[in-house]
Amino acid sequence: MKTLKDIKLKNKTVIIRCDFNVPMKEGKILDSTRIVKSLDTIKYCINEKAKIILLSHLGRVKTEEDKKERSLKPVAEELSKLLKQEVFFVPQTRGSLVEEKVESLKDGEILLLENTRFEDVDGKLESTCDDELGKYWASLGDVFVNDAFGTAHRAHASNVGIAKHMKEKCVGFLIEKELSFLEQLNCPDKPFIVILGGSKVGDKIGVIENVIKKADHILIGGGMSFTFLKAEGYEIGNSLCDNDHLDFCKKILAEYPEKIVLPVDVAVTSEYSNDTPKEEKDISDISFSEMGLDIGKNTIALFENYLKEAAFVLWNGPLGVYEFSKYKVGTEKILKYIAKNKIKTILGGGDIVACAKKAKVENEIYHISTGGGATLEYLEGKELPGIQCIS
Ligand code: 3PG
Repeated sequence: MKTLKDIKLKNKTVIIRCDFNVPMKEGKILDSTRIVKSLDTIKYCINEKAKIILLSHLGRVKTEEDKKERSLKPVAEELSKLLKQEVFFVPQTRGSLVEEKVESLKDGEILLLENTRFEDVDGKLESTCDDELGKYWASLGDVFVNDAFGTAHRAHASNVGIAKHMKEKCVGFLIEKELSFLEQLNCPDKPFIVILGGSKVGDKIGVIENVIKKADHILIGGGMSFTFLKAEGYEIGNSLCDNDHLDFCKKILAEYPEKIVLPVDVAVTSEYSNDTPKEEKDISDISFSEMGLDIGKNTIALFENYLKEAAFVLWNGPLGVYEFSKYKVGTEKILKYIAKNKIKTILGGGDIVACAKKAKVENEIYHISTGGGATLEYLEGKELPGIQCIS
């Protein structure tokens, strides 16, 4: 697969597909991590004296009303600040204004087009990878650089569609970097420990099936651990339970009894609330009126004991209800343990990455993936269309 340095960019018009799908409220960017992570590729193209066109989606756009909240204009302003150079913005995705602006670009200048999913309002042209749209965007440039790792699991007109109609194409530095880390999971250093949390077993079946053979142990916490505990025969009260996947849990526990590590105690309360009294209980003492919202201190110690020996760790999903201050303890303690002991860990999937930021450990983690769904699908062993279209 070609990467940025394999292609001559000088004086060429380069289309870079980024993932600027950042959290935004009332036109303000709440977290610019994804924008910052795209800078290496953009700066390289500036230095190579290319004319740069940036494309990205932002959120999901179904109606004209959605467009009001989903403009990429604030991203152009943020990029201008970060790059200390003006980033031109056209509030359109195609048409004469776009073409005139592209035509007028000088070497090293940057143009950001409007949210590619504005094309979804009439016929989902972006999301269904409309061929004409991909061809049109490809016609604006000479080279296509896909650097939107977070969108690599989508086959959109702005990634797969452009690639189909562009002869010269490659991945950018962000995708290159993400793959170099994630590919280490194909042959991980041992002992290899996987931590899984989050609410539903159903969301993690693909990951469990794909990593269980390679992993020495899978430590399970969060809402999903209660379906496993129920499968083991424990009373879980009103804790989350993914009944549709009880049989899957039973099968995995029967096949890999040594590998699956479940909580031995949990923090319980009477309601899904941060305000009701919290109590720590052994998993055999949960009553029918209680619900577990976090792992307990004996489980934290148990998990740390496994992590102490680990050579490589992959972690997806929080171990408790991280939004509630009383129930973020387990996730935060394990994150801090990993950071303090410099345990080689990849964090993947949106929620655990947000937890790492809140716990202020993000700079001490080996790799934090910028992909949510894309990382999850990679971990499930699926081919990512946004990568495939380049390779
Ligand atoms: C993401 O944030 O996971 C990507 O940008 C893809 O967004 P989507 O889930 O709206 O397709």
